[in-house]
Amino acid sequence: MIRAFLAVLVAVVAVVAGGCNYFNQSPAVLWYRASTSATALHSLFTLPQEHVDSFLKSYEIFEKEAYDSPEDAKNIVNYYQVINHLCAVGDLEKMYIPPVTDLNNGIFANQMEWEEKGMADKLDVGPGKKVLEVGCGRGRIAHHVASYTGAEVTGINIDPSQIAMAKNYAEAEGILGKTLNFKLANYNDPLPFANETFDALYHVQALTYAQDLKALFTEMNRVLKPGAKISFLDWFKLDKYNPEDKHHQHLLKEVKAVIGAVKTPSAEEYHTALRETGFEVLFSGEASIDGGHQWPLVQKADLFYTTFKSIVDTLTTFHIIPAHLKVLLERLVEGGQSFVEADKLGLFTTSYQIIAQKPAVKR
Ligand SMILES: *[C@@H]1O[C@H](CO)[C@@H](O)[C@H](O)[C@H]1NC(C)=O
Repeated sequence: MIRAFLAVLVAVVAVVAGGCNYFNQSPAVLWYRASTSATALHSLFTLPQEHVDSFLKSYEIFEKEAYDSPEDAKNIVNYYQVINHLCAVGDLEKMYIPPVTDLNNGIFANQMEWEEKGMADKLDVGPGKKVLEVGCGRGRIAHHVASYTGAEVTGINIDPSQIAMAKNYAEAEGILGKTLNFKLANYNDPLPFANETFDALYHVQALTYAQDLKALFTEMNRVLKPGAKISFLDWFKLDKYNPEDKHHQHLLKEVKAVIGAVKTPSAEEYHTALRETGFEVLFSGEASIDGGHQWPLVQKADLFYTTFKSIVDTLTTFHIIPAHLKVLLERLVEGGQSFVEADKLGLFTTSYQIIAQKPAVKR
């Protein structure tokens, strides 16, 4: 009964939000999206108060520019164990705004297209190959890469609740332990794999919590076979960002809280660390079409969540749904327009891709 009510709520939100291209998808995708939304809403309704409190407190980490204490790791888990449900209600289950591949499509379709053509195709993997995803969240990107390429994908993540969800879904689909594996691990610790295990590696907007880039890349290099390729999709500051400009500083602070970023590095920092740890950089640049502006997709997400929020505001006024949902959504939609503005100004990007390779022969 409650599921049916939630599904209707999601459908209403989707219709009202209109421009989100929710219905312009195949029935299978539509069913997957609707059931994911309903499950996420159910998790949000039944969220323990302590998770709500620790989520709100976790935002202190986005005031920082360095990830460096055990307290930070706790905040990250507290943030993700709630935000993943908020994101999954809408088109953001995979928790990233994808590079733009086609503006006639919604966020979900752009993610699918980019994960195939923009990322998986460039890793040169297929059946019998092993791929590592660092910071896999609920495991849906890994699931897609495994089914698309036929390779065996292993995802690691710091949040036990998301690893459990990733495993459950893979199990239900019958591929857990076959082409899909998940492991609870913090990428700031030594990676829990033997030398030269993987044929490729990728991450999607996950490295903002890296404590020591060189240590992390050294570990990545160690677990990769010679010749293995890596793809990073990252949040970087761009040349137009002026650290002295007060408005730029304000936008940075707001966007970091929306996307859950701590460090805002430049692409050069990554190039240097990659080269120093034995990688060769093959490509470095914007992954979005037409010069890299993602704001039309951000706008779609913002429209969905602000619409959803106004429905929730109304329902909480009549005590139809728990009040904490309103508080959570207030936090989520804060800064959405700053994200759009910063992207239009070209100050930062969340769609910068680096492709690198561990040389085939030791040098
Ligand atoms: C694994 O690689 C590291 C450095 O890349 C090396 O120091 C270590 O001895 C290797 N371990 C094994 C078991 O070969």
